[in-house]
Amino acid sequence: MTQTTHRKVVVLGGSRGIGAALVRKFAAAGDNVVFTYAGSADAAAALATETGATALQVDSADRAALIAAIAAQGPIGVLLVNAGTAVLGEPLTLDPDAIDHMIDVNVRAPYHAAVEAARAMPDHGRILIIGSTNGDRIPFAGGAAYAMTKSAVQGMVRGLARDFGPRGITVNAIQPGPVDTDMNPAEGPMAGQMHSFMAIGRHIHADEIADYAVFLASPSAAMITGSMQTIDGGFGA
Ligand SMILES: NC(=O)c1ccc[n+]([C@@H]2O[C@H](COP(=O)([O-])OP(=O)(O)OC[C@H]3O[C@@H](n4cnc5c(N)ncnc54)[C@H](OP(=O)(O)O)[C@@H]3O)[C@@H](O)[C@H]2O)c1
Repeated sequence: MTQTTHRKVVVLGGSRGIGAALVRKFAAAGDNVVFTYAGSADAAAALATETGATALQVDSADRAALIAAIAAQGPIGVLLVNAGTAVLGEPLTLDPDAIDHMIDVNVRAPYHAAVEAARAMPDHGRILIIGSTNGDRIPFAGGAAYAMTKSAVQGMVRGLARDFGPRGITVNAIQPGPVDTDMNPAEGPMAGQMHSFMAIGRHIHADEIADYAVFLASPSAAMITGSMQTIDGGFGA
């Protein structure tokens, strides 16, 4: 089927990593892309110049600012919620404020952003949230709270798919395994352990996630909703 062009596509957390790959792919497909960032102003400005997308500094942990920014976009054809943090470590010593901030960014923000975007979203719109294979499987210590946030994404995706399905709006999660980004570098200290859990032992490229997001946002994926689309090299197999 043909790609719908000139949709308004909003990427939350688009300045680096998977988010930047999403911005590049959707902009290259002819969409009108707006992306948010929190701290990486230089990277965001460079990406905006490169792609023609619009960069907005909006902290996903600031609920009021996030909702206002989404409302200001008018009808959004595709919402991609990518912004996320990973706070890993010994739960007895992790800073509880850091855990709560992660919950704000990884759980509260996707929910409120999806609901706000749905208000004005045209029929057959798309909501995609980047979850994680760790929502299904956490085969190492120190990931309980992170895994909890990504399991929470699963519940919101299933429920919101029911809520917005009558309008033809699909709501899905993409659940990556290890992706080579600043959050999880392919040459990082945990890389070997990560690869040992996988059927195909290498980091995933951010483009491999973004290509699939483009498909899920296309008319061909009209009947994929309420689902977790796992791209993890067999991490959860
Ligand atoms: N990399 C992996 O192995 C992996 C695996 C599974 C799932 N994921 C998920 O994929 C998503 C992206 O991960 P990544 O690896 O690309 O991470 P990353 O390299 O750390 O990039 C994170 C992106 O999110 C933005 N962001 C973070 N906190 C934000 C906030 N409060 N408000 C607005 N934007 C914010 C960052 O913007 P600034 O730099 O401007 O702050 C940056 O653009 C996350 O949800 C993560 O949990 C990653």
